[in-house]
Amino acid sequence: MFRMTRYIKSLMNPAPVRPVPKPAGPVVIWNLIRRCNLTCKHCYSISADVDFKGELSTDEVYTVMDDLKAFGVPVLILSGGEPLMRPDIFDISHRAKSLGFYVGLSTNGTLITEENIQQIADAGYDYVGISIDGLEQTHDEFRQKKGAFAASMKAVELCKRAGIKVGLRFTLTQDNFPQLPDMLRLLDEHDIDKFYLSHLNYSGRGGRNRKRDAWYDMTRDAMNLLFDHCHDELRRGIEREYVTGNNDADGPFLLQWAAEHYPDQVPLLEQRLKYWGGNSSGVNISNIDNLGEVHPDTFWWDYNLGDVRDKPFSRIWSEASDPLMTGFRRSPRPVKGRCADCRYLAICNGNTRVRAYNISGDFWEEDPGCYLTNEEIGVLDMPRRVAAPVIEIPVHNL
Ligand SMILES: C[S@@+](CC[C@H](N)C(=O)[O-])C[C@H]1O[C@@H](n2cnc3c(N)ncnc32)[C@H](O)[C@@H]1O
Ligand code: SF4
Repeated sequence: MFRMTRYIKSLMNPAPVRPVPKPAGPVVIWNLIRRCNLTCKHCYSISADVDFKGELSTDEVYTVMDDLKAFGVPVLILSGGEPLMRPDIFDISHRAKSLGFYVGLSTNGTLITEENIQQIADAGYDYVGISIDGLEQTHDEFRQKKGAFAASMKAVELCKRAGIKVGLRFTLTQDNFPQLPDMLRLLDEHDIDKFYLSHLNYSGRGGRNRKRDAWYDMTRDAMNLLFDHCHDELRRGIEREYVTGNNDADGPFLLQWAAEHYPDQVPLLEQRLKYWGGNSSGVNISNIDNLGEVHPDTFWWDYNLGDVRDKPFSRIWSEASDPLMTGFRRSPRPVKGRCADCRYLAICNGNTRVRAYNISGDFWEEDPGCYLTNEEIGVLDMPRRVAAPVIEIPVHNL
């Protein structure tokens, strides 16, 4: 996760640079249920409105939660599928809060209504993230459900009225890129606290539909627009939070933006970004799926590290010694191609490995999602070895 607002603020109000303290355990994104009332075109968990057998029971979730707490996990993001389809979601949420976790709810919002908004408020989520992938028609096509946009925006309003910190989560593709300015207007109109731009990851249905990924120039335009917009709001005293995910090239790209707007601050920002350290899959980010399988992050659903029914998460995570996890924990990571020679490797940490793997079959190949030019990364005369959407990969067919 790249906390853009924090870094732009640091350019405007310079302060000493300090290493970022590392929590004892990783952030856990927990896909508690795979069932979903939508079937989005990009969905990494390949969710659908069917019952998936063998999911963790309430008691099993509680046992895992105790272990996560003892292991020093600071944050739980409760996700799915659609987490609000789990009948015990509020019990689980209350327990997570009472154990002292920072708890986020990751939802499509369509099941938030006048009837359950009080329960959602009472659960005490630190943050509710609602996915909005464009204006009405675009969003409904993306999420393959007419009326989804209206229901999700209603949810945003209900959450705001209930005093809940709420964010929009927007996955950038060719289809919704032209509507990014409209999304930014929505933030203002609805006084939304946070905006999360998620770059497309080639995983699950996002792998099958990766041909719709934004072109590099679109991504660059989108990022420049966000930097300018966030900067402008901060200048006007508006403290909305902008973050991005799934493309750690955003860090170096901000450095270039800073060279234009705050040239004197570039060395300090570079140091700050090195302390951030870019991609942290398998280190500070982890995932538990609906069946209790542990993964290096949410997008590695086909790559299991162990089952929490057999072994506590804390042991699975500490003992993980397979080639992928060993590579994740090496510094620098054993990346190849453009990533290996990139002058920004210490900032982005090799970006998103699942994209490289799903296109090339090699964990450590260059990330085809990196939108920086060869000139920018200092690797002239090196053609891309992994072009963005080239080969077909097998995907489940839900
Ligand atoms: C899998 S969903 C689960 C929570 C809820 N059903 C929702 O849609 O918000 C979690 C988040 O991941 C995003 N997401 C799903 N597939 C993705 C992909 N292939 N690349 C990037 N983000 C993705 C969704 O848009 C959503 O914001
Ligand atoms: S992205 Fe979320 S809403 Fe869409 S199908 Fe997947 S789990 Fe459901």
